[in-house]
Amino acid sequence: MDYYAVWGNPISQSLSPLIQGKFAAQTQQAMSYEAKLGDLDTFEQQLATFFLQGAKGCNVTAPFKTRAYQLADEHSERATLAQACNTMKKLADGRLYADNTDGIGLVTDLERLNWIKPNQRILILGAGGATQGVLLPLLQAQQNIVLANRTLAKAEALAETFLPYGEIQAVAMDKIPRQSYNLIINATSAGLSGSTAPVSADILKLGHAFYDMQYAKGSDTPFVVFCKSLGLTNISDGLGMLVAQAAHSFHLWRDVMPDFLKVYSEVTKEIQWQDVRGWGIYRFI
Ligand code: ATR
Repeated sequence: MDYYAVWGNPISQSLSPLIQGKFAAQTQQAMSYEAKLGDLDTFEQQLATFFLQGAKGCNVTAPFKTRAYQLADEHSERATLAQACNTMKKLADGRLYADNTDGIGLVTDLERLNWIKPNQRILILGAGGATQGVLLPLLQAQQNIVLANRTLAKAEALAETFLPYGEIQAVAMDKIPRQSYNLIINATSAGLSGSTAPVSADILKLGHAFYDMQYAKGSDTPFVVFCKSLGLTNISDGLGMLVAQAAHSFHLWRDVMPDFLKVYSEVTKEIQWQDVRGWGIYRFI
């Protein structure tokens, strides 16, 4: 039985064991997958022991994505540009490979929603680690990106890094161009601690669809609540991105692509059945 896990801190909230278990059953893979609490001081040793004990791969979530990236021997291009790793795989020669499936997970979920077509204009709110993790696949999907951040210098630094890969422009959060946007993505951490919306209602009204990279178990995220309160339509939280990034990790490990749509629909229903009030709001970074 091949052995996998997800590492994070905290980790008890993770839906990854549920999702990966469904993928394994669906594709009849002999594997186990469990949640592991990483230690803030000794994560590197924990991971080394985990792989010495024969693990084939793992997912990595907050706050270890950068540390996992630094530990790996080999890196995919998308992990390198993200400077973060959410998926590790032990190679046949024993070296550790780092990938990042967050961005392709987002693109896959936008395909589910039928919200991604070439040459769209997308407004991304936030220029932190979450944004850095998804820019390459979005640019490869030929999206023209306006990247808005409270701290302009961070958006400018990301735009400079990613300019060779497509159309990307940095702006300050209070100087967002008044033009229409096919899609507005919330990639800020605003709301994770109960704070208010990252951008004004006037700006949101320029959008035709709204995607929050956060998700909440059993309730709407603050960004989704705000969009709905403005009477906007075409609003999605990031649960589909969570399932889709997991599907791409699974594919990397097992060389078989699970049915993401089926598992997404099952997970959505199961979350509604459980008593999940008070579980909080989550993201993948
Ligand atoms: P993560 O790795 O989760 O992306 P991060 O790297 O700390 O976290 O980035 C958080 C992002 O959310 C940043 O873009 C941050 O803006 P600043 O760079 O100006 O700090 C943004 N953010 C957090 N709270 C916000 C708020 N209340 N309004 C607007 N942007 C916010």
